[in-house]
Amino acid sequence: MTDDINYYNGIVFKGFVRGIAATAISGGQYDRLMKRMKRSSQAIGFAVYTDVLERMDLGASPVAAQEDDFLNVALPKGRLGEQVYEMFAAIGYECPELLDPNRKLIFENKEKKVRYFWVKPSDVAIYVERGVADVGVVGKDILLEEQPDVYELSDLGFGKCRMVVAGPGDFKDDTAKTLRVATKFAAIAQNYYRLRGRDIDIIALNGSIEVAPIIGLSDVIVDIVETGTTLRENNLAELEVIDNISARLIANKASFAFKNKNIVNIVKAFDMVLEENK
Ligand code: PRP
Repeated sequence: MTDDINYYNGIVFKGFVRGIAATAISGGQYDRLMKRMKRSSQAIGFAVYTDVLERMDLGASPVAAQEDDFLNVALPKGRLGEQVYEMFAAIGYECPELLDPNRKLIFENKEKKVRYFWVKPSDVAIYVERGVADVGVVGKDILLEEQPDVYELSDLGFGKCRMVVAGPGDFKDDTAKTLRVATKFAAIAQNYYRLRGRDIDIIALNGSIEVAPIIGLSDVIVDIVETGTTLRENNLAELEVIDNISARLIANKASFAFKNKNIVNIVKAFDMVLEENK
């Protein structure tokens, strides 16, 4: 069975087992398959991912996040994380110790039943996908690049920037040649150019991407632009906008099933805070 949503033509469902972060059951209605087999009846079915269940049998430690009634939140370390914490505190999940200047990474408020982890921003989605955090906040760039198996629940409207193609201001694409693209976001760049049928050669870098087209390592770059200062100061120009980026609230899929009321209440409360701040 495939996870491709186009396969289904009606209800689609997923099943979860408490303590397992991954989807355990997945199914839905797929009448088109019956038609392809020259049958006229409707069809509905599901698959049980026995490998997922076996992992539990093997004694793998169950996922902490669904084991207790705490809300486990992965916060991106830094300014963005502090803004996110202020939002959680404003809706009743305060944990003042968290803002103390120390190097502790895990904080909990037993009374409010919340536990926070400070993690590297690019790791938030892993904590949530693997179910050690129920929810987290992550840049849309990471969701686009890594496509983690999580629910994206809210656009928090801060951490705004753009994913762009940039290069020399007078850049003209010579389609007879493979386009050399330097980037930290290989998947985003691949998808963008695949949809346009453009052959590219990805040059995967880890930072200071702007150097690449200046010294001839690449023709263009795919990178994040916030103020535009880095591009301007390096005589580069924004050529195409790929996507708008901002901070997103994400949830583990099993946590969303087992702590649904809690998580839905957070989404609604955040919506209200965002509406008030408009
Ligand atoms: C990011 C991005 C650009 C810069 C854009 O880099 O890769 O270089 O910020 O910001 P601006 O439009 O406000 O100038 P980051 O600071 O994350 O460092 P990096 O070069 O290591 O990627």
